[in-house]
Formats: sequence, structure tokens, C-alpha cells
Amino acid sequence: MTEDKFVLITGATSGIGYELAKLFASEGYALILAARNDGKLNALKEKLELKTHTKVYVIKEDLAQIGAGQAVYEKVKRLGVYVDILINNAGAGYVGAFHRQAFEEDFKLMQLNMGALTELTKLFGREMIKHQQGKILNVASTGSYHPGPYTAVYYATKAYVLSLSEALRIELKPHGITVSTLCPGATRTEFAKRAGKKDTRLAMEAKEVAQIAFKGLMNNKKIIIPGFRNKLFVKIPKIWASQMVGKYQKALIIKNK
Ligand SMILES: NC(=O)c1ccc[n+]([C@@H]2O[C@H](COP(=O)([O-])OP(=O)(O)OC[C@H]3O[C@@H](n4cnc5c(N)ncnc54)[C@H](OP(=O)(O)O)[C@@H]3O)[C@@H](O)[C@H]2O)c1
Repeated sequence: MTEDKFVLITGATSGIGYELAKLFASEGYALILAARNDGKLNALKEKLELKTHTKVYVIKEDLAQIGAGQAVYEKVKRLGVYVDILINNAGAGYVGAFHRQAFEEDFKLMQLNMGALTELTKLFGREMIKHQQGKILNVASTGSYHPGPYTAVYYATKAYVLSLSEALRIELKPHGITVSTLCPGATRTEFAKRAGKKDTRLAMEAKEVAQIAFKGLMNNKKIIIPGFRNKLFVKIPKIWASQMVGKYQKALIIKNK
């Protein structure tokens, strides 16, 4: 592996993205890491460069803003590097009654989980088509498979990610580009706290999820579902699963919603 192989990871300052960044660096890839938190991005850059001697660029961008994907693309262009692997990992959730959530917040969630992911896939996908090679990993969720009461917008965004990714896997194959989708279930990260819910004891560790994701991506797996329990969950008929999800998510709400 040479330093010329670049991987762009969105949402690399915590959780699954952070673990993926460490993993790719240890495998000798050069990194471009995007997120909002400047301090955390620079701390991670310093840590990885020191430990692995790989090149790390950081991009501060709020991907919930319209046009953020284009802004990231232009910043990468200015670096003068080619992205071999794109990992659309940045994402956020929201737990609570749909009618209580302000539409502005729903919109930001949709822009982050779907808009930015779509824009980045389109822009870097075009570059990959020019090179007739590339890999894309889009992070969806087990929630992509069932409607999710009390987390309705989040689950709907993740259903979109899975559908888009499966379609693009077919479209981009003739260009030598692979598209894989990671569908984690509950994972111990900052996600639950940010979404306004309690962590569950059943959550997997982010490091394990990242390792499974890395292996699946490298082996060109279509859909990567980490953990036996999650594999089982996606097979449950929609009507039962949605009722279970509704009860489960309602019980986890910690904010006054
Ligand atoms: N944890 C779970 O239970 C779970 C389950 C299924 C799917 N997932 C999916 O896994 C992915 C990673 O989540 P995680 O669990 O690792 O959560 P996390 O620990 O909260 O990490 C989310 C990452 O995304 C970045 N991010 C959030 N909002 C952003 C914004 N507006 N612009 C740019 N970056 C932003 C965060 O960085 P900054 O705050 O620095 O911007 C952070 O690096 C997400 O797509 C999530 O939907 C998670």
C-alpha cells in the first residue's frame, strides 16, 4: 500500500468513523477526514500521523448545510489528490414524537443523512468513473429495513441510503466502482446521546463494527450487517418490527419530548 491511496471519511471525529479512520491509517491509507469539530479533527490528524506516519488531511464542514458536499469536493480538489475510497459515514438521528420535532431539525437531518451523502457520491463517483475504479461505502442502518415510530424521519433517511446504494451498485459496476452499504444496529458511540436517547446494553462496540465494515468493503460485500442480532432483526416482517421499534424507541427517550 502506498500513500497515494486516499480514503475520504465523513464523520470521523467519533464512533464508527473514528474507528474506521484508525483502521485505514493502520492499513497504510492516506486519509481525508471531514466533520464539524475542528479541535477533534486536528487531534485525530496529529494522533494518526504520529502513530502510523500516514498523510492525514482534515476538512471542517457542516454537512447538514445545503451545498456542503460541493464544498468538501472543492476542498479535496484543492488538495490535488484523488479519492480512491469514499465513506459516507456522517449521520445523526432523532428520537421523539414526530409532531414535536421542528421541521428545521427534520430538514437538517435529511440534508445530513441523505443530501450530503448523495452529493458526495455523485461528485466523487464522477471522478471514479474517469479513473474506472473506486469504492464507496455508505452507512445506513438496520433501521433502513423497517419504518421506525418515534424515530420516523431517521429511519426513513436510512431507507433512502440503502435504496440509493443498492441502485448505484448496479449502475457503477460497469465503471469498476463497488458500492457497499453498512447497516449497523445499536452501536456504542456518541449517536444515542446526540439523538436524545439512552444507550442500550445490547449495543455493539464501534471498533468491532468498523472492523466488520472494513472487511466487507474490501471483499465487495453488497450489504454489511454487523452482528447476529442485527442480521436477525432485518429479517423480521415489517409490521412486527415497526411495532417493536416503536415501543423500544419510546422507552429510550430521555429528553422531554
Ligand atoms: N450508533 C448507532 O447506534 C448507529 C446505528 C445505526 C447506524 N448508525 C450510523 O452510523 C453512522 C456513524 O454514527 P456513529 O454511531 O458513529 O455516531 P457519532 O459517534 O455521533 O458520530 C457521528 C459523526 O458524524 C459527524 N457529524 C454529525 N453531524 C455532522 C454534520 N452536520 N456535519 C458533519 N459531520 C457531522 C460527527 O462529527 P462532528 O460532531 O465533529 O461534526 C461524528 O464524527 C451514522 O450515519 C449513523 O446514522 C449508527
